[in-house]
Amino acid sequence: MLHRPRRLRKNPIVREMVAETKLSKDMFVYPYFVVPGKNVNHPIDAMPGISHFSTDTLLKDIEKGLSLGINKIMLFGVGDQKSEDAKSAYGASSLVPVTVRELKKQFGDDLYVVTDVCVCSYTNHGHCGIMHNDYVQNDVTVDLIAKMALAHSEAGADMLAPSDMMDGRVAAIREKLDSNGFENVAVMSHATKFASAYYGPFREAADCAPSKGDRKAYQMDFRNPDEALREALLDEAEGADVLMVKPGLAYLDVIARLKQNTNLPIAVYNVSGEYSMIKAAAERGWIDEQKVVMETMYAFARAGASIITTYHIRDIVENKWM
Ligand code: PBG
Ligand code: ZN
Repeated sequence: MLHRPRRLRKNPIVREMVAETKLSKDMFVYPYFVVPGKNVNHPIDAMPGISHFSTDTLLKDIEKGLSLGINKIMLFGVGDQKSEDAKSAYGASSLVPVTVRELKKQFGDDLYVVTDVCVCSYTNHGHCGIMHNDYVQNDVTVDLIAKMALAHSEAGADMLAPSDMMDGRVAAIREKLDSNGFENVAVMSHATKFASAYYGPFREAADCAPSKGDRKAYQMDFRNPDEALREALLDEAEGADVLMVKPGLAYLDVIARLKQNTNLPIAVYNVSGEYSMIKAAAERGWIDEQKVVMETMYAFARAGASIITTYHIRDIVENKWM
């Protein structure tokens, strides 16, 4: 026999030597949910291990994370002042800008802050934009998104992650930032975000379930890989610095195909439903959590993602799974 692939699997040393995919802490971004108030640390039922924090308790938890090497976070604001026009989303005194200021005051450049930019936690109907005649209006929403992006940048955000899926928002954000002196704030666009049932637990976390209808008129149809590539390349052309695919596991083909068609870094968002499924099965003793989590992380990297946004990273570093 000329070829015996098992030779290179003989022991751990040779397996390490030929491992084609490596992971490092540097690749991970940890999502956080900030709520108004003080001293809040309220576990989110549908996401074991993840909590709502107020700004003060968030600072403490991030400090702990930093000591473990988690130095990149993605911040979601959960607004309590919801309105038709989402005006609590973009003022300098709204939740996320206030929190980012505190984070930057305390941690400076030791912490890289990515903020989610979307209005669904601030609209009274839970949609990711301004509604008119039961339809989310694109261009007026893009104006709001750009204002929100500017408010986050003024507060000190390092990178913005628009998750709304309006057309043209990357260009509008870029233009708004550049014309206000924030040319070094980066944009990680949710370039291909699919209308997905895997966001279920998040909607409890961010209190943003649409009160009526669904998000299919703006998020992508999961049957469309060609369209996914078109969407992503549009965001690249509009000036995105990083392209994100979301959710993760059910869309590895999209990541792999995008990898062959762009030279930008690719991020994956391992979303709430993916997280909670693993947590639930592990709680019941049906799967080995460590092994399944790490196999999943390697799958993202193997597919072509170099940035992984995941709720699992705290467990990974606390338990030294990596
Ligand atoms: C809303 C938003 C969602 C997520 C991130 N931003 C939910 C949705 O689009 O309904 C999902 C994240 C997760 O499930 O972890 N703009
Ligand atoms: Zn939204």
